[in-house]
This record gives sequence, C-alpha cells and structure tokens, in this order.
Amino acid sequence: MNILITGGAGFIGSNFIFYMRERHPDYRLVCLDKLTYAGNLSTLASVLDKPNFRFVRTDICDREAVYGLFEEEQFDMVVNFAAETHVDRSVESPDVFLQTNIIGTSVLMDACRRYKTPRFHQVSTDEVYGDLPLDRPDLLFTEETPIHTSSPYSSSKAAADLLAMAYYRTYGLPVTISRCSNNYGPYQFPEKLIPLMIANTLAEKPLPVYGTGLNVRDWLYVDDHCKAIDLILHNGRIGQVYNIGGHNEMRNIDIVKLIVQRLGKSEELITYVGDRAGHDLRYAIDPTKIHSELGWLPETAFAEGIVKTIDWYVNNRGWWETIVSGEYQEYYARMYGNR
Ligand code: NAD
Ligand code: TYD
Repeated sequence: MNILITGGAGFIGSNFIFYMRERHPDYRLVCLDKLTYAGNLSTLASVLDKPNFRFVRTDICDREAVYGLFEEEQFDMVVNFAAETHVDRSVESPDVFLQTNIIGTSVLMDACRRYKTPRFHQVSTDEVYGDLPLDRPDLLFTEETPIHTSSPYSSSKAAADLLAMAYYRTYGLPVTISRCSNNYGPYQFPEKLIPLMIANTLAEKPLPVYGTGLNVRDWLYVDDHCKAIDLILHNGRIGQVYNIGGHNEMRNIDIVKLIVQRLGKSEELITYVGDRAGHDLRYAIDPTKIHSELGWLPETAFAEGIVKTIDWYVNNRGWWETIVSGEYQEYYARMYGNR
C-alpha cells in the first residue's frame, strides 16, 4: 500500500503518520507538505530517513508538481490533511484559506482522477455544521445536519466537502469524508486553545479567554481521530461522510482552569478578552454512524488525554519554543495586542 498524506508536517497529519507506521509497518507513506508556518519538519525527524517514508515539499495548489508526484508514485490512497486551519487567521485574511482548502483540494482530486487513485479521503471538520445553542444539550451534529458555516475557515472546508461529493457523483471518484470535532494532543501549533494556554501558563503570561469563556467544544484525543481515519480507509463506504467525536463537551473556561491547576499556577492569569467575530457557541458530534458501521470508539478519556498532553508540552519545550519565535510573535501581537 502506497499512501499520500498531505499536510503531514502539521498537528494531526504527523500524528497520523506515526499512528500508521505503527499499525501498518509495511505501508509506504509519502508526506506532501508546503511547510507553512504551521508545518514543522522537525516533528517528522524520527521518520525522515526511514526506507518506506518519503517527504516532498510542495503546495497542493501546484498542479504540475502534484501531477508529477502522482505519476511517479501511483498512490493507492490519498488522505488530505493539508489546510489552513486557524479560525482567527481566517477572520483576518480569508484568501489563503480559499486557495489551499478549496483549490488545493480540487487539484488533488483532479490528480486522483487522472491517475485513477483508488481512494481520496478528505479530512474535514465538524465546523461545517455551524454551531449549536448552549441551552439545547439534546442537539448533536449528525451526518444529515445541514451545512451552515460561520467563519471563512469553516466555509472553505465546507466548499471542499461539497466539491468532493460532486467529484464522487459526477466523475465517480472514490471519495470518503470524515468530520471530526476539536483535537488535542502532542505537536499542536501553540496558536490553538490548549497548547496556547499551556505555553502561556508556563510563562506566567495572561491567558486570553474570548468572550464569556462559556463556548463549548467537543474534544477528542488525536490518536482516536487517527484510528477513525484508518478504519474509514479500510472499511468505510465510498461516497459516505463519517462524523468523529467522543461525547466530550467542555466549556473553554473549564479547560483553561484545568491547565492552570495541573501546572500549579494562579487563576489570576485568566484574562477575559474581546470575543472572536462570529464565534461559534457549541459543537457536539453524534458518532453513532462510525460506531455502528465501523466499530469505532474513542480509547483515551479526556482526564487522561489532557494530562498526557500537558506533560508532553512540559517535556518538549524545545519543539514549541522554537516555533513560537518569529512570525508567531508578530501574529500574537496583532491578534491579542488590542483585544
Ligand atoms: P495544522 O494547521 O496543524 O497543519 C496543516 C498542515 O498543512 C501544515 O503542515 C501545513 O504546512 C500544511 N499546508 C498548509 N497549506 C498547504 C498547502 N497549500 N500545500 C501543502 N501543505 C499545506 O492543521 P491540523 O490541526 O493538523 O488539521 C489537519 C486537518 O484536519 C485540516 O484539514 C483540518 O481542517 C482538519 N481538522 C482539524 C481539527 C483540529 O482540531 N485541529 C479538527 C477537525 C478537522
Ligand atoms: P481553537 O483552538 O481556535 O479551535 P476552534 O475555534 O477551531 O474550535 O479555539 C477553541 C475555543 O477556544 C474557541 O471557542 C475559541 C476559544 N479560544 C479562546 O478563548 N482564547 C484563545 O486564545 C484561543 C486561541 C481560542
């Protein structure tokens, strides 16, 4: 099996590479990544020189380069993680989100058509469903929930999903789509809630909680997401969407307090700041379909996963301290300076 993993130098893609190498040591994995600010080759250091692994630095929007790679490799599967992923950045500048998340996905699917790749898997997000009210805990996102987006990020991901389903229907491209809830774990870029709060707590810097802090996200440990994608690749039905989530809804403020407590710092670091424009209130996944069809269940409880994650950031300061220099400092000043 020869699998192309795009965006494999990012958070979930790199964890997926590690997961697949362990589960399927005989598979060849090719990682294509542009290495944007969110991609970090050092994350892949332990696999870079392995014989059944190849890294290629390319933009998924570069049609010629993508076709060249497909011609050479004749992939059996493509798993598309490559994307611009941070909602706040999409509010600031939507353009690159449209380019990578929509155009890039279409280039990859054109390559799959041209080289007759037997499977294209699109890694999508629960954010395509928009948000749920805080006072209706009975409501969950199912695969039938209408797409109803809030941010340029989620809109670009939704557009890619629609295109993928259009390629399935129009050209018969063998597509599957997964829509996962918020992930956490090692190697997440420190602009996202959990690693940002860990890094700031360790540095005793203010912890910027948007709005009331009562917004709810449904958190899943990254390995459980990887396991779900592996199952979909091997047993999922073509043309289907699978929601992935572990019924683990948490309010932002409770997560921040948990991190502060674990690191033995003061809650006085918590600072309420201006809300995110268009801020989604609540996400919550109904994972019935992937459970009943593919037998998927999450393995890592939040209480265990969050401790593992905090400890990882404490023990791997070198990984994130280098990447929070440079461009990230400018971003941080822009994003939080006048909030
Ligand atoms: P990330 O931002 O950590 O990594 C994205 C990776 O894509 C980086 O390595 C980056 O260099 C690469 N990339 C960006 N533009 C590219 C381009 N034009 N060509 C090639 N490579 C490019 O993202 P992540 O959190 O690992 O998310 C991976 C995927 O999972 C995304 O598609 C995202 O929408 C989806 N997702 C993420 C979450 C989450 O909680 N993080 C939840 C559900 C779904
Ligand atoms: P984030 O990690 O950006 O993921 P997403 O917006 O895609 O769900 O944010 C998770 C939640 O945390 C979201 O409700 C926004 C909130 N948040 C803060 O309160 N402060 C922050 O500094 C960040 C980055 C996020």
